[in-house]
Amino acid sequence: MAIDKKIELHLHLEGAATPDFIRQIAFEKKIDLSKIFASDGRYAIRDFVHFLQVYEAASAVLSRPEDYARLTRSVLHAASETGVIYCETFLSPDFCGGGDLAAWQDYLAAIEEVADQAQRDFGITMRGIVTLVRHFGPDQSKRVARCAAESAGRMICGFGMAGDETIGHPRDFAWAFDCAAEAGLPFSIHAGEWGGAQSVRETLDAYNPPRIGHGVQAISDPELVARLADTGTVLECCPSSNLVLGVVPNWQSHPLARLRDAGVKVTVSTDDPPFFNTDMRREFAALEQHFGWGPAEFAEITKTALEAAFCDEATRAEISKQLTT
Ligand code: ADE
Ligand code: ZN
Repeated sequence: MAIDKKIELHLHLEGAATPDFIRQIAFEKKIDLSKIFASDGRYAIRDFVHFLQVYEAASAVLSRPEDYARLTRSVLHAASETGVIYCETFLSPDFCGGGDLAAWQDYLAAIEEVADQAQRDFGITMRGIVTLVRHFGPDQSKRVARCAAESAGRMICGFGMAGDETIGHPRDFAWAFDCAAEAGLPFSIHAGEWGGAQSVRETLDAYNPPRIGHGVQAISDPELVARLADTGTVLECCPSSNLVLGVVPNWQSHPLARLRDAGVKVTVSTDDPPFFNTDMRREFAALEQHFGWGPAEFAEITKTALEAAFCDEATRAEISKQLTT
């Protein structure tokens, strides 16, 4: 398996917008966004909650389907340049039409059209995981779930939850998850990024999702780590994100390698690459530098990601073929 071809399972579409992209759209719309940028032009983020606020301020300038079409093309082009041939992006009806179904369908149509072009132009396949934002609350999550259920199909292949995991309990969103499950959508749920091992346990108890976003805080509870290994739950680890947001102090102490050694299925993604000064090539280079990983480990996480992808079987077979040619 060639390691220059990569699979990314955990990428927030708005979070992949570069500061230059957001500045350009803000300029065109005469929106003053200066407070979210540092003097060097990058996103200014102090901590996790502030990161979510900056993320939402940046996303707010993307107010039309055309904005998302431009964003999707730019994100897929950048990802393909780092070797990504398949990516699953978190898509938020909250940011795409505020949870209104008709508006969401317009945004999704624009994203799908560009994703099809990008597949032809850059050789990258994109799928979407409709994602509720936890701190927007259970009522809003119902609108998001309806959007997900109505658009489940070729592009929309999963349902998820992001946002501030220190707020509420996973079961507060049971209506939304039930609705998405009825539409046949599997789950990827952010847990164990900021919420500790307890958050991972609550998430497993509530929904037993096949994939957890981050999950790295599980490392503090050996029984939970054994449970993750046992259930085969796949963790979407995003090491640079964890470093920049202060989840872990440095690369050496990142739990990724220890989780893998304990038999947990791990994958690697970038989360919100421009916020964390990363891309998939940099993540792989850091894994090599700090954990001594090489072709065998990269082939293993790529295989894990391929098996855990939410796409249909024909797409999985196609991506598998591309990985080996
Ligand atoms: N939304 C975008 N990035 C996120 C992250 N790292 N954690 C939670 N919600 C997010
Ligand atoms: Zn994330």
